[in-house]
Amino acid sequence: SVLEMEVEQINKGKYEHYMQKEIHEQPESLTTTMRGRLIRGGSCKSMSVLLGGIKDHLKTIRRSRRIVFIGCGTSYNAALAARPILEELSGIPVSVEIASDLLDRQGPIYREDTAIFVSQSGETADTLQALEYALENGALCVGITNTVGSAIARHTHCGVHINAGCEIGVASTKAYTSQIVVMAMLALAIGDNTLSSQARREAIIDGLFDLPSKVKEVLKLDQEMKNLAQLLIAEQSLLVFGRGYNYATALEGALKVKEVALMHSEGILAGEMKHGPLALVDETLPIVVVATQDACFSKQQSVIQQLHARKGRLIVMCTKGDAASACVGGSCRVIEVPQVEDCLQPVINIVPLQLLAYHLTVLRGYNVDQPRNLAKSVTTQ
Ligand code: G6P
Repeated sequence: SVLEMEVEQINKGKYEHYMQKEIHEQPESLTTTMRGRLIRGGSCKSMSVLLGGIKDHLKTIRRSRRIVFIGCGTSYNAALAARPILEELSGIPVSVEIASDLLDRQGPIYREDTAIFVSQSGETADTLQALEYALENGALCVGITNTVGSAIARHTHCGVHINAGCEIGVASTKAYTSQIVVMAMLALAIGDNTLSSQARREAIIDGLFDLPSKVKEVLKLDQEMKNLAQLLIAEQSLLVFGRGYNYATALEGALKVKEVALMHSEGILAGEMKHGPLALVDETLPIVVVATQDACFSKQQSVIQQLHARKGRLIVMCTKGDAASACVGGSCRVIEVPQVEDCLQPVINIVPLQLLAYHLTVLRGYNVDQPRNLAKSVTTQ
């Protein structure tokens, strides 16, 4: 109806689509996610992170034999992005499961496990069923959702709300970055505040405080990503290579491109390049390589070199000022992004890819907020 259309326009404000609004809202949604939860420096260093919803269960979580993340789609990717920092700070083995796959296998879940259910809606049927399964098996069940009162929030023993605000676009954007931030805070909360980890912990907390302004900075790439989308508008396929902290960036970037722009796209673990994907490389197929500064940088340089040797059409995402060292062995288009603490870099790096997927979709003339065949919340199996 006309009224519904008017309400929708008011909700979207100055934006044309919800997805666009939600991408640009991320400096604010991240601020809300962290509000009241971070305590910097001062005399109470051990209270650097306060997550009220799980504080009574922290001891049990710290004693658990394993942490298992369970989710679907973007929520699964967010858990993958957070795994390295959780492993580093907690020392507890972390596995990440796609909810349906865990159920298909009836994979082992034990009483000594902490099972963490990640879901924007809190209503996804696969995730909810995996939760029932984990409860039956006696695991401590923690929820990370964006929806107060949702089924997953109600059925878990405890949890953390991501507080990203209502997300309407079917493709998840601001919920993804807020999920990663919550899981980074969770890693800080679980990890022991030892002398040897103190500098690292403080760097992460400082990085979290700075994150909204860095996201604001990376959003300035909007026009550049629109130009890139123009260039890629008629492509059949787009590969995205990442590794380490940014393996998740590759998977999530590719998921955005396929779900909204309806273009085939695949996120590839760069370490696996030689074991198959290299066969696809020629002078026509566009490839995004995420190669921002972290411990994997030199390995990514050698991946870029090898892709150049096969005449790959490269788009390299690198740290600001790093274009020359990142683009080894040939010429490539670059996307320069601001640097943050390595474990938080996925929050920055996904933004240009969200913008790229958005512009590709609009330019290709598809429905941005409601891609064909997809639903925001999949409540049936
Ligand atoms: C659907 C949506 C995706 C979402 C996934 C998991 O497939 O289209 O955008 O990532 O469900 O949803 P959840 O609400 O559990 O995070």
